[in-house]
Amino acid sequence: MKQTWWKESVIYQVYPRSFKDSNHDGIGDINGIREKLDYLADLGVDVVWLSPIYASPNEDNGYDISDYQAIMKEFGTMEDFDALLNEAHQKGLKIVMDLVVNHTSDEHQWFIESRKSKDNPYRDYYIWKEGNQDHYPNNWGSVFSGPAWQYDEATNMYYLHLFAKKQPDLNWENKAMRQSVYDMMTWWLDKGIDGFRMDVINMISKDQSFPDGEKNGGLYGNCSPYTVNGPRVHEYLKEMNKEVLSKYDILTVGETPGVSVKDAMGYTGEDEHELNMVFQFELMDIDLGQYGKWTPVPFDLCKLKAVMKKWQTGLENKGWNSLYWNNHDQPRVVSRFGNDHEYHIKSAKMLAMCLHMHQGTPYIYQGEELGMSNVRFDSIHDYKDIEILNAYKELVEDKKVLSEQEFMKGVYSHSRDNARTPMQWDDSAYAGFSEVQPWIAVNPNYTSINAKSQVNDPDSVYSFYKQLLTLRKQYKIMVYGHYEILDEENPNTYMYTRTLEQQQLLVLCNFTDQKQTVEIPNDLLKEAKVFITNDIEKPLEKIMTLNPYESVTYIL
Ligand code: GLC
Ligand code: CA
Repeated sequence: MKQTWWKESVIYQVYPRSFKDSNHDGIGDINGIREKLDYLADLGVDVVWLSPIYASPNEDNGYDISDYQAIMKEFGTMEDFDALLNEAHQKGLKIVMDLVVNHTSDEHQWFIESRKSKDNPYRDYYIWKEGNQDHYPNNWGSVFSGPAWQYDEATNMYYLHLFAKKQPDLNWENKAMRQSVYDMMTWWLDKGIDGFRMDVINMISKDQSFPDGEKNGGLYGNCSPYTVNGPRVHEYLKEMNKEVLSKYDILTVGETPGVSVKDAMGYTGEDEHELNMVFQFELMDIDLGQYGKWTPVPFDLCKLKAVMKKWQTGLENKGWNSLYWNNHDQPRVVSRFGNDHEYHIKSAKMLAMCLHMHQGTPYIYQGEELGMSNVRFDSIHDYKDIEILNAYKELVEDKKVLSEQEFMKGVYSHSRDNARTPMQWDDSAYAGFSEVQPWIAVNPNYTSINAKSQVNDPDSVYSFYKQLLTLRKQYKIMVYGHYEILDEENPNTYMYTRTLEQQQLLVLCNFTDQKQTVEIPNDLLKEAKVFITNDIEKPLEKIMTLNPYESVTYIL
């Protein structure tokens, strides 16, 4: 397997709005990130991925960009950014930027021009259609509820927005538009950034016949078959690679909902010349119910393992996996696949070890290294995320398919704001994030879960992550070792090996709050040392009894 720095790295995702507020207006900012670079370097991460910091009216917290080459006012200035990049590099940290080019804000200059007239030079930068007798050009629904089309008076036509109304989709069929995007990317890379995380990049190519989608009893049709992994997406990414990416030694990761292993081979295959890796969603979708994240179902460990196995074996030697439990769109993993009460610390460590021992590049989302957990605000009005608020309106108020109580259950377990509460730095007011009331309330558990109490505690979740990252730097087997699962059928434990030449790692995880016994295959009963554990060290034996949420890796 080809060895590269981005396979060996660990990426830390910063959601700037919630990371650290340096000037006390309640909103995280670039100078706040600068203050915490030493914290990140100490943890041992190699790359920092910044969620969008570009000029934005913040309909979707920066994922609606009004100027790709300017910094969001609340976050600071371009000088602040240049200083951040420079200081990060001095500390040996790379900076990866979010690239959001499926859509812009409706306040982007391109869109302001585009909507003016049918013959404006920017008209075809976006997707405009005539309405039909039923009003909308077709029946597609938006990811954020409601129709995917918005009527625009100036030219009596509709524009497409797969996300919010204020996020019109760019028209990738247009060569001039693509060139503008490539020029912008080149501008950032020439500044010295180290790569891009590409927002919903597999949705940029739309089926040009714009057919109606299947309704499945809903109000709107499902557009995914015509917008996800669309007809020209590989052509566009190959072009982007040739025009831009291939000229730099950078990290690229595509956010790709609805991607199969086979699709991912196309995006990440070494001979394809598109991206380094993608974020798959199969794992994150294992516990979604009838109304998706709003009606979650208990997760099934066998399903989780089956998805892991499929991706670990499917991409080996050909593509490359990203490994993540968390990001700004997902609930906190300790609350989701672990236990955020009695076994909080234990299960947070188990999940950390379980993920980081797989083959792929691990991502840590801010606060994950502290075991930060989901939050429960009393009222829907305490929530800020457009996805939550729009879904509440559609499912509870308009369609009345869920009661308020049912919906709040979904919000508590799966909504995106679980990930967006302020980073918990210490136990002072507002968790040391800010000196004033932050834009979104702090999780009240900050007095017990915070960085200050963990950095110098050898038994903390933070120290466990640090240990994992140190091991990864010392042992190539953690990066490149071949993966094999040993207990596919066991609904309570996860046992797998990694193998590199003569060396082997044996990974044992208990995903329950009960003791579990596992039987070790005879060929693995060799001389073994504990590599890392969240429990007391025990010798490897034929029958192992694992404590609740115990996890241990042996090196053979
Ligand atoms: C991606 C982002 C998400 C955003 C959406 C629209 O899924 O991760 O936060 O809302 O794209 O840009
Ligand atoms: Ca601020």
